[in-house]
Amino acid sequence: MAIFTVVCVAAACAGDGDAVITPESTLAPDITSPTSATTPAPTPAPTTTPATTPTTPETPTTEVDEVFRSTSVGDPRYPTLGTAGIDVEHYDVALDIDPTSGRLDATVRISGTFTVATDQLSFDLDGPTVRTASVDGDEVDATVEGRDVVLHLDDVRDVGDGFVAEIAVTSRVEDGPSFGPDAGVFVSDDGLWSVNEPDGVSTWMPVNDHPTDKATWTFDITVPTDVEAVANGELDDITVSGDSTTWTWRQDDPMASYLVLLLVDDYEFVDDGEIELSSGTVSLHHVVLDGRRDDLEPYIDVTRRQLEFFDELFGPYPFDRYGLAIADSQPGLAMETQGLPLFSVADLDGSLGPLQHLLLAHELAHQWFGDAVSPATWDDIWLNEGFATYAQMLWFDEIGMSTIEREAELALRSLPDDGWPLSAPTELFGTVSYNGGAAALHALRLTIGDDDFFALLRRWVVDHDEGTATTAEFERVAEEVSGRDLGDFFDEWVDSPDGPPDEYPASATEDG
Ligand code: TRP
Ligand code: ZN
Repeated sequence: MAIFTVVCVAAACAGDGDAVITPESTLAPDITSPTSATTPAPTPAPTTTPATTPTTPETPTTEVDEVFRSTSVGDPRYPTLGTAGIDVEHYDVALDIDPTSGRLDATVRISGTFTVATDQLSFDLDGPTVRTASVDGDEVDATVEGRDVVLHLDDVRDVGDGFVAEIAVTSRVEDGPSFGPDAGVFVSDDGLWSVNEPDGVSTWMPVNDHPTDKATWTFDITVPTDVEAVANGELDDITVSGDSTTWTWRQDDPMASYLVLLLVDDYEFVDDGEIELSSGTVSLHHVVLDGRRDDLEPYIDVTRRQLEFFDELFGPYPFDRYGLAIADSQPGLAMETQGLPLFSVADLDGSLGPLQHLLLAHELAHQWFGDAVSPATWDDIWLNEGFATYAQMLWFDEIGMSTIEREAELALRSLPDDGWPLSAPTELFGTVSYNGGAAALHALRLTIGDDDFFALLRRWVVDHDEGTATTAEFERVAEEVSGRDLGDFFDEWVDSPDGPPDEYPASATEDG
């Protein structure tokens, strides 16, 4: 029996609306023809358009006897990540963790909607063993294919149909060297911590592991009663049952999977009341290693000042809570986990110098640039790191620790010869993305003037809040706000494979 359905490319089907990614031709095996031996399988229109350039979906409405099977959203840098054709709305995550052995059981209930007609559901999963899988209450066959777990449905689901998939997996957190090249969960002396950017979450539980599919989350984390478990959002409930305790955290704002925080250790919870910002009332909740409460003190005050500063500069703080999580994690590494960024106790050790100001400003600024507005593809990483780096320079200028001119000059002079363009850097988290991105922003500020520059940053967040965006979209908004053609500017400072000019442009306004 042939099934009459609409085939669409990822660009037309992607979950969160503003993501515009066209599958690469190498992803053609995504679309197969199980229902008709006679109709050749359609291939997505091959494209050489970089994913950073929004494209009009090609032939999205061709009617053929096919279903759409996807195991990728077509991210050019991480072609295995994500699944096109579904829109996850909510993750209900139940974890059972034994920090001593490193055993991590995850049962994830994923609710969402099909945005294509299909007979399978695929989620990213790299490593854990699958125990059980069901869809809408019925057990289904699950196969692990590469870095995906694929759930096979008995029949074809239509565009707009809802689904509830439940997958139980087990993994073991390796007790080895700490943070390696790969993201995920790591052991500390008495617990676990995680940095999941860009693809770490799928090393310990099944998710649609790409920022283009944001969702709300609940976490029920069961751990031995002598430790605490932390995740993003509001602490909803603590249930003690003998020698284990379940910690329930609820993240009601849409959140990309790479921003998930998971911590297990001996923690204290420090509430710092509320702060009135242009966005309204924001409540402040910090999490600090037991016994390090006093070391948190200087950062409580700096955080309040930075929230006020950035809320004014970047527009309304995007969430209704914020806090610092200070963990026994990798020194020198911090992570902008949504609403509750992660820092190492080795860095936030009670002292308050340039490093502490830098880290605190950087991770807070990511709440706007990265968390509220996330990169549509991982090539767009400078929209996170360049912006957060520029924000940290603005904070140094604000408190008189440096000036923006001096910081911008240092950033420009730090840039390597290789690793460009900024819009698709060789290294995800390298000097190009961080300092190169900040230098491009400073050059843009000089080109369009302060008023338009800060209006642009605010507009950027308003336009893309709770979604994702590309470098090309940033160029478009910059042109709109400034009323200028910025084609040459972006060619030089953002898209040049040889890196940017050696000098900043002359200032558009006399006083800079
Ligand atoms: N996004 C983090 C920050 O800038 C840094 C980060 C996340 C990172 N994952 C990483 C750095 C992996 C190196 C490797 O605050
Ligand atoms: Zn960063």
